[in-house]
Amino acid sequence: MRQRLLQYLACPACGGSLELSGVTASHGDHALEGELSCASCKARFSITRGIPRFAALEKLDADKAATAANFGWQWQHFTQEDQKYADQFLGWIAPVTPEFFKDKIVLEGGCGKGRHTHLVADWGAKEVIGADLSAAVETAFAATRHLDNAHIIQADIYHLPIKKEIDYAFSVGVLHHLPDAHRGFLSLASKVKPGGHLSAWVYGAENNEWITRWVSPMRERLTSRINPGALLHVSKLPTAFVYLATKLIYRPLNRVAGGAVARHLFYNNYLMAISGFGWKEQHTIVFDHLVAPTAHYIPRGAFEQWWRDIDATDVSIQWHNKNSWRGFGRV
Ligand SMILES: C[S@@+](CC[C@H](N)C(=O)[O-])C[C@H]1O[C@@H](n2cnc3c(N)ncnc32)[C@H](O)[C@@H]1O
Ligand SMILES: [Zn+2]
Repeated sequence: MRQRLLQYLACPACGGSLELSGVTASHGDHALEGELSCASCKARFSITRGIPRFAALEKLDADKAATAANFGWQWQHFTQEDQKYADQFLGWIAPVTPEFFKDKIVLEGGCGKGRHTHLVADWGAKEVIGADLSAAVETAFAATRHLDNAHIIQADIYHLPIKKEIDYAFSVGVLHHLPDAHRGFLSLASKVKPGGHLSAWVYGAENNEWITRWVSPMRERLTSRINPGALLHVSKLPTAFVYLATKLIYRPLNRVAGGAVARHLFYNNYLMAISGFGWKEQHTIVFDHLVAPTAHYIPRGAFEQWWRDIDATDVSIQWHNKNSWRGFGRV
């Protein structure tokens, strides 16, 4: 944890300011082992392996704990980087562009392995803070610790230890995995200062009925409950179907007659969107869909209401890959 992060942190219990103490190991300006204590309520939070720890994992409800355990495993296994992440990320947060980040204080709700935190730091954010509940923070910290303007914290999105000083907050692929997605959205939005901006990307209910009907029961009863190490192997079979279909059918057909034929293929927009990825990334995507204990599929109407609830202005809500909703607005 870099000293300069302190000015944006606030006690998640009372909002008081935090003080750094008892640093027993450091590297450059990173405190690797130490403690943060609240000047007001005296709550204490450890810093271990360079990461401030605000989430008491042993006190989490069972569903949140299972989500954190499974995604923690996922992002400590699938640590690869991919050139295509930048375009994929921009697809999730459009109309935001790389120039938008320049000199902004940015907060990412649910940073996973830190691939977007890294991009945002590269794109010139003044500071970017990636927060995640799970052990994915270990991978995120390793991937970003060399960047002066990137910070990783372990925290629950419901209880973010952040002052209301954020210029832009975003959350990609996280809110729908919370017990209450709307509550996570409100919590993230509450950290954006007046006039700042917010982006959220969530699974849509529309066009995903086949998932909620056939895949979700299997995910809830079986694949999210088995050992992730076993799921790693089990998920190779559906990945093989997706991989062969995208490489041998979707990509070639989308190049024929301006995509006029491919348009009629099942789930064409989404499968085409992931068709450029290699085996490892497609395996990550399939695994990701099967490992989550909780996944909500959110109808457009409900998503629109979230933005009204925070009185956002200039709101843009768009249908992405014909299976999900991306929203952007001023808070
Ligand atoms: C599908 S991953 C997406 C990660 C990242 N946004 C990305 O696109 O690479 C969902 C992430 O949400 C995190 N998460 C789940 N519940 C959370 C919570 N209550 N607070 C913060 N993060 C949470 C998980 O640990 C996981 O890393
Ligand atoms: Zn406090």
